[in-house]
Formats: sequence, C-alpha cells, structure tokens
Amino acid sequence: MNTLPEKDFTNPRAQHGFVGRTCSIVSVGSYVPEKIVTNADLERLVDTSDEWITSRTGIRERRVAAADEFTSDLGAKAASRALEKVGISGEQVQLIIVATITPDMTFPSTAALIQQKIGAVNAAAFDIEAACSGFIYALEIGQQFIMSRTYETVLVIGAEKLSSIINWKDRNTCVLFGDGAGAAVLQYRPGSHGLLTACMGADGSKADLLNMPGGGSRCPATVDSVNAGLHFLRMEGKETFKNAINAMNAAAHEALARCNLDIAQIKCVIPHQANRRIIDAVGERLGVRQDQVFVNLDRYGNTSAASVAIALDEAVDQGIIQRGDLVLLLVFGAGLTWGAAVIEW
Ligand code: COA
Repeated sequence: MNTLPEKDFTNPRAQHGFVGRTCSIVSVGSYVPEKIVTNADLERLVDTSDEWITSRTGIRERRVAAADEFTSDLGAKAASRALEKVGISGEQVQLIIVATITPDMTFPSTAALIQQKIGAVNAAAFDIEAACSGFIYALEIGQQFIMSRTYETVLVIGAEKLSSIINWKDRNTCVLFGDGAGAAVLQYRPGSHGLLTACMGADGSKADLLNMPGGGSRCPATVDSVNAGLHFLRMEGKETFKNAINAMNAAAHEALARCNLDIAQIKCVIPHQANRRIIDAVGERLGVRQDQVFVNLDRYGNTSAASVAIALDEAVDQGIIQRGDLVLLLVFGAGLTWGAAVIEW
C-alpha cells in the first residue's frame, strides 16, 4: 500500500490532514515551431522598433507555427518528448489535460485530438481554459487524480497557437506573443514530494482587461464581427501590467506560506514569461536574486498556457534545476487568473 513519504514536514497537504498520495512531475518536454519572427521582422509589419520592443518587454524574437501546424500538433510534440524521456508509452497515459486559449476548434477538445496523435488510446481527455495561468491550473487538477489514486499517469499540457488570434496590424499586441507547447507527466513516486502546493485565483470583474470578444456564444462569427476585428486578442496593457505584478507577488507569498518556506530556500523561480519588466518587478518584491529567476521570453515572447511549461523544461534541460531542488512557478493571465506552485523537483 502507498504511504506518504517521511519528509512530510514540508508537505502542506499533510499538515492539513491530507491522507492521499503525493504527486511528482516525473518528466517534462516542450516544443516550439521552427519559424522565428524577430523584432526586425515586425518592424516591417507595424510602426515599431527593436529598441522599443526590447526595452519595454525584453522580447527579441518569437516562434510562429506553420499554416498547417495547429495547437494539437505543438502539444502532441511536447507530450511525446516528455513521455519519451521516461520511457512511458502513449497507452500508459490515463488522462490528458490541455490548457489552451487557442484550441484547434471550439470542440472537440484539443486534448482529444492530442490523445489520437500520441496514441494514448486508454486516456480520458479534456481541455481547461485559464488563459496564461492554465498550466498551473491544469497541474493542480491533474494532481488531484494522482493523489486520489484515480489514475497512475496523467499528462498535463500547455499549448498555444497565439499567432492565430493576433492582429498582426496592432503594434500594441502583436509584438508580445508567440506559439509553443510544454508538457509534464504526473505520477506517484514513493519518497518524492513533487508538487508541494498549488494556489489558484481569479477575478472575473477584470475580464475586460484582456480577452477575445468574438467567436463565443455572446458574439458568434459574422461578417460584421470579423470586420470589426472581434476575433483578435485585445488588451489594456498598462492595467494588465499592474495587475500581473500584484497577483503573482500575492500568489507567491500564499504558496510559500502554505509550505512554511522562505523565498531564500527556493532554488529557481519560474514566472510567466510575459514581460521582462513584470518579471523583474515581481522578483524585486519577492526579494530574489536575478540568478534565481529563469527567463526565456527573449526567445519566445508570451506563449500563454505554454509559457511556464516550456521554461520548466528548459531549466531542467540546462541543469539549473536538479532533483530535490525547490522550484516556484508563478502565473498570471486573462480572467483575470493567477496561480503559484511550489515543486520539490
Ligand atoms: N512599438 C512602438 N510603440 C508602441 C508599441 C510598439 N510595439 N506598442 C505600443 N506603443 C506605443 C503606444 O501606442 C503608446 O503611444 P502613445 O503614447 O503615443 O499613445 C506608447 O507606446 C506607450 O505605450 P504604453 O502603453 O505607455 O507602454 P507601456 O510601457 O505600458 O508598455 C506594454 C506597453 C504592452 C509592453 C505593457 O503595458 C505590458 O507589457 N503590459 C502587460 C502585457 C501582458 O503581459 N499581457 C499578457 C498578460 S498574461
């Protein structure tokens, strides 16, 4: 019978009388499309400059998927890489959760399409939508199925083809986003903590700050809605900026407090990769050294639900995170939504 590992003093779930299993991230993988769009390329599309984009956001380039490459393709490639690394076959996966705001289509779920692409014939599959916070939301949901012994192997994926909802004539938004996918395989591993805690939050009163008005039941696609540009992502940048800093800072404090941890004990902070100035402001408020914070947005821009998943994979791949290290993931996105997760890697 599975029992909780000995080191439960750091496990907030155990402190609150939790008796289920712990959940480990046993593997991660990521995929970004081949095509690179640089700031210089965008200078040819809109009235902007490499200097403006770099100084205001830290982004130098982003990836853009091919016309025949969809969110499910990106997600399937990231998932296959994560599974291959630990020698787990598609057939062994019992649940696939995909976080995305750019599903291949409104229905069926992108998770179902990925299930077919990776041969996960035994898996249940569904999507969740928490915008850029989606990966932590999906991790927390996936973890519940491991802890409750419902499933042995859960695949969590953040995947986006944001280029499909970007108005490439709007300099306020088109410079910020990119395409990509990241995946994590969740299992119970005796003697390993994995996810120590994940906090999630939302504030629907600020839904207007960042959204895509068209395409849903409120505003189905019509010639008029397309002409009005309602099927593009729209954002109030300044307000979003302020809310992102406050929400990620608060979520970080809540997650650390739940685990009785001090920020100094965190080896690596992986924040949502939206804007270098947001990341620096959050880092400053938390009192972390710059070398504690993982940043790759210069190469990918904001990939929404894929953002921290890709960053986690790269940090592990580069040896920045070793088994046993404590990692803090921080996310923020439309909704508004936010979240933080502490992982013992
Ligand atoms: N190139 C050149 N100028 C641009 C530009 C671009 N790509 N985008 C906007 N500008 C202009 C604006 O039109 C504005 O011009 P104006 O003063 O003549 O009206 C000027 O730059 C300043 O805009 P401002 O909004 O003050 O810039 P900012 O310092 O707030 O930076 C963002 C803009 C979008 C980079 C910033 O607000 C931001 O990052 N917000 C959060 C975005 C985000 O992370 N969203 C996703 C969350 S998950």
